[in-house]
Amino acid sequence: MSDDPLAACRGITVRFGGVTAITDLSIEVRRGEVLGIAGPNGAGKTTLFNVMSGHVKPASGEVLFKGRSISGLPPHKVFQRGLARTFQLADVISEQTFYANVLVGAHFARDTGLRSMGSFSSDSYRRADEAVERFGLGARRSALGGTASLFERKMIMLASAMAQAPDLLLLDEPVGGLNEDQADALLGKVQQIARDGTTVVVIEHVMRVLTTVAQRLVILNRGELLFDGDPAAAREDDELQRLYFGSAVGG
Ligand SMILES: Nc1ncnc2c1ncn2[C@@H]1O[C@H](COP(=O)(O)OP(=O)(O)O)[C@@H](O)[C@H]1O
Ligand SMILES: [Mg+2]
Repeated sequence: MSDDPLAACRGITVRFGGVTAITDLSIEVRRGEVLGIAGPNGAGKTTLFNVMSGHVKPASGEVLFKGRSISGLPPHKVFQRGLARTFQLADVISEQTFYANVLVGAHFARDTGLRSMGSFSSDSYRRADEAVERFGLGARRSALGGTASLFERKMIMLASAMAQAPDLLLLDEPVGGLNEDQADALLGKVQQIARDGTTVVVIEHVMRVLTTVAQRLVILNRGELLFDGDPAAAREDDELQRLYFGSAVGG
């Protein structure tokens, strides 16, 4: 395992009109870790992912991935370089089958980024097949996306992101809306993904989730870094206890 970070955000500032969502934020993602990101509603967690994945352009700062700048690259180019993500709202294409939804992810990563169904490589089919099985979607592979439950939509999104074997997977509140059994099943998949060698960054406001899967914890508050370290140490910090582990915390 190399010492240089897999990904690094350096001095990121993001503004939306008059709102500064992130202020001069620097964080590193280490190879092989599961990094948890916590923080109250509006802290800038999703915006940070949007910057890393190329969906939002920061006012200043730089994102490095595997030693190269990915600042300014469009999302599909970032994805092609091996940085995959899921979204807080698990969207699938209703008129396409589960399998086709996963295939689009595999295709998107490998080829042009077009959602055309005409020109998939055999490699894309194979990757999609594997991902469908791996995420427990085999029995429903021919069902239409529109019939997917929330849990299935999340699994489709995960399978689609993983179909290209990314080096880094960003998960934005993956267990939101799931019951406890479903959340455990999904977290089991995340742990398997990490064991198989993909580095994972997971945003979550449910502390149980982060202490279960994350080896390191970053806490954001109002677009700034509040804490970076061992999840157990965060629990013992009085200020963090009051701010974050108290009852009045949203997502
Ligand atoms: N596309 C956008 N346009 C305008 N404001 C935004 C946009 N995305 C996020 N924001 C604002 O940026 C801040 C951080 O939001 P977000 O990153 O979604 O927080 P979190 O994911 O931690 O809840 C909030 O004040 C939010 O309203
Ligand atoms: Mg969010």
